[in-house]
Amino acid sequence: MNFKKEFNTNKETWNQKVAAHAGSDFYFVEAFKAGRTSLNTYELEALGDVTGKSLLHLQCHFGQDTLSWSRMGAKCTGVDLSDKAIALAQQLNNELQLDATFVCCNVLDTSQHISETFDIVFTSYGTIGWLPDLKPWAQMISSRLKEGGVFYMVEFHPIAWMFDYTTEKPIMKYAYHQDEVIYEEYEGTYADHQATIVSKEYGWNHSLSDVIQSLIDEGLSIESFQEMNASPYDVFPDLVKNNEGLYESKDKLFPLLFEVKATKKVAR
Ligand SMILES: C[S@@+](CC[C@H](N)C(=O)[O-])C[C@H]1O[C@@H](n2cnc3c(N)ncnc32)[C@H](O)[C@@H]1O
Repeated sequence: MNFKKEFNTNKETWNQKVAAHAGSDFYFVEAFKAGRTSLNTYELEALGDVTGKSLLHLQCHFGQDTLSWSRMGAKCTGVDLSDKAIALAQQLNNELQLDATFVCCNVLDTSQHISETFDIVFTSYGTIGWLPDLKPWAQMISSRLKEGGVFYMVEFHPIAWMFDYTTEKPIMKYAYHQDEVIYEEYEGTYADHQATIVSKEYGWNHSLSDVIQSLIDEGLSIESFQEMNASPYDVFPDLVKNNEGLYESKDKLFPLLFEVKATKKVAR
């Protein structure tokens, strides 16, 4: 299956979201332009000093995280399916006189567009759920990493995606191990609930074992794996802000995030 219809629908939706997101309070574009980083403590602590390192950012949206890494001294390339997102990322790069490169393509096709290998491959907050199968994703990550290079991801927890949030009260509806695609249609976006766009989205749930095993199968060694209750983003219903300014559920029944850091093995 090539999932052309699903990817095209998602691309149209993401194209519509770009302007709404760039104008939203969620993304703080003006503050970002003035120097605010868009990166959060999890990824900053995990990757540490990136000065002089080459970094490939998968599903970079309109590039604020990519450009934040650039400001910290990394040589960055961002990839995204949405041409509108990539156009805005390039515009921000030029305006801020940074040296990132942006490529518009399906993340699964990255190696058809980029042959360079990187010290770091990074992806964060809302990415793998747009992909039907993690095997080609992990293959691409391994191909684009230098030997000894680091892959880091921080992502919403798969338990959080077992719920349908389009109803007034979230309903646990989707399986933890679910192969079938999930289609949802709703008004607004997570960054601007009042935005006058109808989001039409095809998504896929991936279990933690799918994520981790797909990386191991492609020659990556898992260095660390964590599940976290607190999210930098207020994107699920009824979260409360903690003392560190992060968002948690009141009952803390399940984690909201997980992170994986892995290294590409050195061939002997
Ligand atoms: C939630 S955003 C990523 C979050 C990012 N950390 C941010 O907020 O800036 C998801 C991104 O994935 C992109 N995307 C969705 N499906 C994709 C695919 N198949 N290939 C590449 N990018 C894709 C969308 O265009 C969107 O920019």
